[in-house]
Amino acid sequence: MQILLLGGTRFLGRATAAAARDRGHDVVCLARGNGPVPDGVRLVVADRDVDDALAAVADRSWDAVVDMATQPGHVRRAVRDLRTPHRVQVSTANVYARYDLPEQAEGSATVPALEADAMAGMEDYGAAKVACEEAVRAAGGTATVVRAGLIGGPGDGSGRLGYYPWRFAHPTGTDVLVPPDLSMPMAVIDVDDLATWLVEAAERGLDGTFNATGPTIQLGDLLDLARRVADSDAVARPVPEDVVAAEGVNPWMGPTSLPLWVDDPAMRWFATLDTSAARREGLRTRPLEETLSRALAEEEARTTPRGCGLTDEEEIRVREALDRR
Ligand SMILES: NC(=O)c1ccc[n+]([C@@H]2O[C@H](COP(=O)([O-])OP(=O)(O)OC[C@H]3O[C@@H](n4cnc5c(N)ncnc54)[C@H](OP(=O)(O)O)[C@@H]3O)[C@@H](O)[C@H]2O)c1
Repeated sequence: MQILLLGGTRFLGRATAAAARDRGHDVVCLARGNGPVPDGVRLVVADRDVDDALAAVADRSWDAVVDMATQPGHVRRAVRDLRTPHRVQVSTANVYARYDLPEQAEGSATVPALEADAMAGMEDYGAAKVACEEAVRAAGGTATVVRAGLIGGPGDGSGRLGYYPWRFAHPTGTDVLVPPDLSMPMAVIDVDDLATWLVEAAERGLDGTFNATGPTIQLGDLLDLARRVADSDAVARPVPEDVVAAEGVNPWMGPTSLPLWVDDPAMRWFATLDTSAARREGLRTRPLEETLSRALAEEEARTTPRGCGLTDEEEIRVREALDRR
């Protein structure tokens, strides 16, 4: 197949381009070029903020167009300018309106679509993705809309999944500081499992909307696996919420954080998506231990500063605060 991949220079897009290439397809990526595309894949450099950005790839019909975009204007212009019988749109679990309830399925209510072509900020993320979904569904032809949960594995610039295996491998004491609530539901999909299924969906012209993530477990189980892949003797030590707040530790990701933990009760059931429809359509997910191992290997090879979790100094400071209580 001749596949046009809008993206391809970062995490999931790059893995998808590689998966498509490995399955024998001709792959062309279009992006600004802020990273490399895989060997054997052609990159067309263009900025989709510009109205005619797709001109260089609009002179022919593609067997499938796979789009990683989040800005509604990017997707609206792709639908306007690109000829293809099938589109694959990567969306997100953030489209759902309610996460104070578990097991959102594809028919569950979503937030209203963003009317604007561009997000004002990340608070518009879910609404922007709903708008992207609506644009591809209205394009004519068939469309696979894939609402991904948390993605992990090699190439994850956020470093949020790799932090705990890396920290267990490099403890600053006899324990590793972990989030307050180990019962929080968690689900992770390996980047290569998702990439493979996106390509399969393109090959089959699969029509529909699908949640795609790994099995739901508890954060404590994920931490046990992280400790195991790191072959560590350190024990997990939860930091109570009042210490987290007093020491300025953030949830979810980024600097000075205890990653993967969400402190907002309205988001508690985020990782409990119903993925039965995607699994019926062939989505296969590898054991989380393997994804954690791959994330650890990448953290061990890291040459750039780690932008996620606690630094050694921060972990020691928070542990001292805990010990003083
Ligand atoms: N990571 C997760 O856990 C997670 C969870 C759920 C859903 N998702 C979704 O999964 C997808 C992840 O995609 P990703 O990892 O490949 O990368 P990404 O960081 O979302 O970037 C998307 C791609 O679009 C390109 N791009 C961005 N702005 C552009 C512009 N103005 N013009 C042309 N190209 C532009 C980027 O390349 P350049 O910078 O080179 O232009 C990049 O290749 C996204 O749709 C995301 O919303 C992610």
